[in-house]
Amino acid sequence: MFSPALSVCLLALTHCALAGKVCPRPPEVQFATVDVSKSVYEVGEQIEYTCRPGFVPNSGQRRYTCLPTGRWPLNTLLCLPQRCPSPGPLQHGKIDFTDSYYQSSISFSCEPGYNLVGTRTSQCMADGKWSGSLPQCQPVTCAPPSLSEFGVLSYRRLKPGNVSTFLDTITFECLPPLALIGNETATCMANGNWSGIPECRSVTCPTPTGIENGFINFAVRRIYHYNESVSYGCQPSYVLDGPKESRCEKTGNWSIKPTCKGPCKIPVKKAVVLYNGEKKRVQNDLKEGIQHGETISFYCKNKEKSCAYTVAAQCVDGNLTLPSCFKERGFFSSLVKKDPSDMTPCED
Ligand SMILES: *[C@@H]1O[C@H](CO)[C@@H](O)[C@H](O)[C@H]1NC(C)=O
Ligand SMILES: *[C@@H]1O[C@H](CO)[C@@H](O)[C@H](O)[C@H]1NC(C)=O
Ligand SMILES: *[C@@H]1O[C@H](CO)[C@@H](O)[C@H](O)[C@H]1NC(C)=O
Ligand SMILES: *[C@@H]1O[C@H](CO)[C@@H](O)[C@H](O)[C@H]1NC(C)=O
Ligand SMILES: *[C@@H]1O[C@H](CO)[C@@H](O)[C@H](O)[C@H]1NC(C)=O
Ligand SMILES: *[C@@H]1O[C@H](CO)[C@@H](O)[C@H](O)[C@H]1NC(C)=O
Repeated sequence: MFSPALSVCLLALTHCALAGKVCPRPPEVQFATVDVSKSVYEVGEQIEYTCRPGFVPNSGQRRYTCLPTGRWPLNTLLCLPQRCPSPGPLQHGKIDFTDSYYQSSISFSCEPGYNLVGTRTSQCMADGKWSGSLPQCQPVTCAPPSLSEFGVLSYRRLKPGNVSTFLDTITFECLPPLALIGNETATCMANGNWSGIPECRSVTCPTPTGIENGFINFAVRRIYHYNESVSYGCQPSYVLDGPKESRCEKTGNWSIKPTCKGPCKIPVKKAVVLYNGEKKRVQNDLKEGIQHGETISFYCKNKEKSCAYTVAAQCVDGNLTLPSCFKERGFFSSLVKKDPSDMTPCED
């Protein structure tokens, strides 16, 4: 008698000859798991690998079938870590990272003057996204400066709004007659402090002193305050040189005063000269001399060519130097010879 099982075997002899063949446990693949985990697999049985969380199939096949030879086909699957997109950018800050694969972490930092708001680090997660959200670098704020003498020292922001942030500047002002001592502007620094706060101080200058050959207009003998000024004038025929006004400065000194420059006598008895484009006789028209800064031109003779030319001389604070070519004429020569001012002008 044949058992029913043997009858089946006889009907499919070839198949039964291989019945002893089975596949062993499939090979381990790095960063992957297999859907069914058994120690023995039937011929024709199919398995499927899955990359572990955070890993993605890069190349090769995921499905394999147990071959009639009792072997698995060559495994080609390669699972590689998930990659997160490159993070950022972080305005006013920087992101430090070595790579952007699954489980790597990045760290955020801000430039001086900026505070990090949010998390300092982030990890590349299994889903290919960075954990948390991108932090922000917000500028440091400076509190309004505390004014010791309120109402005396005031300030204004150069930017609209009532909050000052890193690198903003403010400008201080003092009420007259107080003088601002220190820097007029302050900058909000990275540490949240103002770069410097000036002071308003009372500054006085002593009674101003006069100048030589001049006077102070409407002078009153009193103490003067910061930024008060006095004006100067000169005696007749003297010329004011420099600023007309002197101002009481922050140092308690007067700013530079003008000087009075003197007129020049013309150091010849008789001559015809050119003054303001006109011929003038020194002995008649220029007895008083000329003022500081003015020029007159003297006539000089070119003997060879029998012609005359002019050389200018300027009055500098009472000094006037005659041109070396100029010859003052004696009584005799003025009778017999033509004056150079009447000779034909030399051609250059
Ligand atoms: C800033 O100004 C706004 C309106 O201009 C006001 O609501 C806010 O309270 C002010 N903040 C401070 C700190 O003064
Ligand atoms: C005043 O401070 C500003 C910064 O707030 C600086 O740039 C400037 O040089 C300072 N001026 C003086 C005279 O110190
Ligand atoms: C800011 O200024 C205050 C007062 O002048 C000072 O005590 C503090 O140390 C300063 N802060 C920094 C960070 O320099
Ligand atoms: C100083 O006084 C003059 C007027 O004499 C004025 O124009 C100027 O703004 C004043 N300066 C200051 C710093 O107060
Ligand atoms: C200003 O006055 C001070 C004393 O108050 C003096 O030491 C200084 O030399 C003076 N400066 C100038 C420029 O005259
Ligand atoms: C004017 O002349 C005098 C005396 O010769 C001399 O001491 C002075 O320095 C001169 N002044 C100018 C401005 O040349």
